[in-house]
Amino acid sequence: MKGLILPRGLLSTQIPAARRALLEWFRRSARPLPWRHHPSPYEVWVSEVMLQQTQVATVVPYYKRFLQAFPTLEDLARAPLERVLRVWSGMGYYRRARNLHRGAQTALERFGGSFPADYHQARSLAGVGDYTARAVLSIAYNQPYGVLDGNVARVIARLGAIPGNSGQPEVRRAVEGVLGQLLSPRRPGDFNQAMMELGQTICLPRSPRCPACPLRKWCRALRQGRAEAYPEPKPRRPTERHHLAAGIIRHGGLVALVRGLDDGLLLDLWNFPSAFGSSRAQATRKLREKLASLARGSVRLGEPIGEVRHSITFRSIRVHLIPTEVSDGAGSLRWFSISRLRGAAVSKLARKIVERLQEVPFS
Ligand code: ADE
Repeated sequence: MKGLILPRGLLSTQIPAARRALLEWFRRSARPLPWRHHPSPYEVWVSEVMLQQTQVATVVPYYKRFLQAFPTLEDLARAPLERVLRVWSGMGYYRRARNLHRGAQTALERFGGSFPADYHQARSLAGVGDYTARAVLSIAYNQPYGVLDGNVARVIARLGAIPGNSGQPEVRRAVEGVLGQLLSPRRPGDFNQAMMELGQTICLPRSPRCPACPLRKWCRALRQGRAEAYPEPKPRRPTERHHLAAGIIRHGGLVALVRGLDDGLLLDLWNFPSAFGSSRAQATRKLREKLASLARGSVRLGEPIGEVRHSITFRSIRVHLIPTEVSDGAGSLRWFSISRLRGAAVSKLARKIVERLQEVPFS
């Protein structure tokens, strides 16, 4: 067969047919998601921010609710932040909502109330990184930017039987090379959404549904009978064991929480004031120091009243619950009613601790 051989796999002569098959499949099979019906650039922006860390099925009702509350970019920009966070609540990662709000204000002040159609201007908005800029510009403005998320990277690694894992720079370069060649210059937005959709519904991490795949004719991994073998798994970071001392400051039905956990973790969420250490004693010492700066007045730590286990990515954590008294609970501590934690931006760990507190006798 004639044609230039691309970095991994497809011949240049095969590209137009593969692209056409993909777009035709998307035209027939695209899920009718609420941001796919002639969306404004603002609507595309909101959907892409929501879809960054949350699955499609979860996003759908939140997206509808958000657009009902803030139908236009200007509505969002002029809304008080507290209202934006309330409408966002339940989806987590509140930094996304804060950035979206601030980004909308910037777009209103500097770009005439629209999401800008220029890459560099788009990147100047809070929370708009390379991925979001490419996604919005291609989908909303039909600009020829390829979008690479984990699902798309898997589709391409299989298509080209690209060895290695997605953490390796040479693999990323190879994947970007194939994506750039395959991208439809005429319909980049549909192309990108088709690739994402293919990764989400057909080219699954395990048990991919190859017989239903519009790209099966060109897939090198399938030809090898080893679709699942690509991409190779990233080497797992070994689990680290940590101790965490959590200060339990209670007053009737209230608990005192602080933003962030420790070591730069869970920065956006409310937590019991906590400190990591390599032993319980060390963690407790660090907690005492931390509380001295968080709370005004004196601080007294008691003996641990219980322990919970928790994991955050590669950290396996023994959390020691330390009853704590502060003579003045102000400073950066904030009181929360235990019975009203549900809608608040409180971490999973803090919720787990609250559950445990209901079980242990402690005044
Ligand atoms: N994930 C990120 N963006 C998406 C989109 N536009 N459609 C489906 N899944 C997505």
